[in-house]
Amino acid sequence: MNELLLIILAYLIGSIPTSVWISRHFFGIDIRDYGSGNAGATNTYRVLGSKWGTVVMIVDMLKGVLATSLYILLPHYLTDEWDRTNLMIGLGLGAVLGHIFPVWAGFKGGKGVATLFGMAVAIQPLVAVCCVGVFLLVLYLTRFVSLSSILASVAFAVLILFIFNEKETLYRVFAVAVALMVILTHQKNINRILKGTESKVPILKYRDR
Ligand code: G3P
Repeated sequence: MNELLLIILAYLIGSIPTSVWISRHFFGIDIRDYGSGNAGATNTYRVLGSKWGTVVMIVDMLKGVLATSLYILLPHYLTDEWDRTNLMIGLGLGAVLGHIFPVWAGFKGGKGVATLFGMAVAIQPLVAVCCVGVFLLVLYLTRFVSLSSILASVAFAVLILFIFNEKETLYRVFAVAVALMVILTHQKNINRILKGTESKVPILKYRDR
């Protein structure tokens, strides 16, 4: 029972709508009305510039790290009914769901990538580093942040399943779920890529405000 309360806390942490609050408080707009309409770091780069995009990326990642680490920070809450892996995955996914469906911002949030990355850093740091490599390579080759995110998440699943050959079933299901989740949240991006209308990396194209 206590573990479930921690997962709810993780969801509430993930629900912190960094880009929405920054765009409202510092610019008087809702980031979801601009650019791709996504409440995430990429769209913040696109609309508000690299400084705020970086802030959103770091905070959204930290939400994943913090939520996944709650079992370390609040050990007296644990009842020993859950093993550590199950709990970390539950906490991390709670935060990611919060990021995608934030209770503090009308359940319309981001695509989960930065928070998933923060979760991966906490659970599997080596795999997370490899995924950054895939992300940067695809970004360099294509300039699509969305495609880079999708292929990095697919790499996450492939690495866990085949390279690190993780035996625990829950881990394997989780790895596949991560890739599917990122593909699902990027449906509009996939359609735009297929139509040739997806915007390329905005970092060098947009002037900071
Ligand atoms: O993490 C989100 C990114 O992959 C795509 O963002 O704003 O281009 O839809 P955006």
